[in-house]
Amino acid sequence: MSQLAADVSADLPKLSETLTEVTGAHFDEFIAAARRLITSAQSLQELQQQRVSLTGKKSALTGWSKQLGRLDADDKKAFGAKLHEVRSSIQEALTAQQQALEAAALQAKLDSERIDITLPPRGNEKGRLHPITMTTQRMQQFFVQAGFNVATGPEVEHDYYNFEALNIPSHHPARAMHDTFYFDAHYLLRTHTSPVQIRTMEAGKPPIRIICPGRVYRCDSDQTHSPMFHQLEGLMVTKSSTFAELKGLINEFLEAFFAKSLTVRFRPSFFPFTEPSAEVDILADNGKWLEVMGCGMVHPQVLKNCGIDPEEFTGFAFGMGIERFAMLYYGIDDLRLFFQNDVRFLKQFG
Ligand code: PHE
Repeated sequence: MSQLAADVSADLPKLSETLTEVTGAHFDEFIAAARRLITSAQSLQELQQQRVSLTGKKSALTGWSKQLGRLDADDKKAFGAKLHEVRSSIQEALTAQQQALEAAALQAKLDSERIDITLPPRGNEKGRLHPITMTTQRMQQFFVQAGFNVATGPEVEHDYYNFEALNIPSHHPARAMHDTFYFDAHYLLRTHTSPVQIRTMEAGKPPIRIICPGRVYRCDSDQTHSPMFHQLEGLMVTKSSTFAELKGLINEFLEAFFAKSLTVRFRPSFFPFTEPSAEVDILADNGKWLEVMGCGMVHPQVLKNCGIDPEEFTGFAFGMGIERFAMLYYGIDDLRLFFQNDVRFLKQFG
């Protein structure tokens, strides 16, 4: 028997013995004692125990109800009504206490999970693409529409692909000009995207039309040089590629990229892997020529190095610095801004 049932029974020792001895006053006393107990319950669990001892099968109340049958009709009616009143009253108190406990529990939960809606919001600013990414995409868009596929190659390269196969033997002065980061005698960080030309020609047969955007590395750093920067290489090899076609393509690309008509100049130049070679300049508003890329017809030796017969196929290639295009397009004068990741700078794009 629980403590509370014991208390109630102690208060009213005779109740369960003979119903006829029970008076209205006894019942009121009983109800008052039961209510006191109920309102003292501190938890739903405790309340449930009280519910069982006050109204359950083994409770005094149920015991009395069972004895009703022994009474004569009048008493039965009177006590029956009284017992019903007792039960309802206890049940009402149980329900009230249950609601009070539940409300208190909810309030405690709400208090512990309180959110201060007066705090300023953190905001939900969206990220943006880096200006170099956007420039690369803009460049790619033109060439993809012109039928070029996007190719990639490793940034850690073998000197065969970065130099040798491109007609730059080890004694060649062009190697010195590349400010190469070497890992060992043969492995290096690619100094340009041109090795992807070799890898593509080795892997597939003409016709070939690819562009290759990617990171390149040179041991050089100042306002106009970064040790890591990006190039976009282009290569087209067919049975009938010509310099005129190269010029037309580049002209169209430049005008599409800068979205205006331009004065473009192809200035004779030299690259070991193209012959003839040219630098492409555009005439700026201030009357100065700006160099924007290198290009030329793929050197027959380079085709041969890749197993392509130079008597049957001709090709042209071009390579440009993506940062340079981004700087011209957005009007940025310091290359290093692209790599400092200062949000005040980056937020101005996209
Ligand atoms: N690879 C050359 C450079 O990095 C650019 C180039 C590419 C020139 C293709 C001609 C043809 O300077």
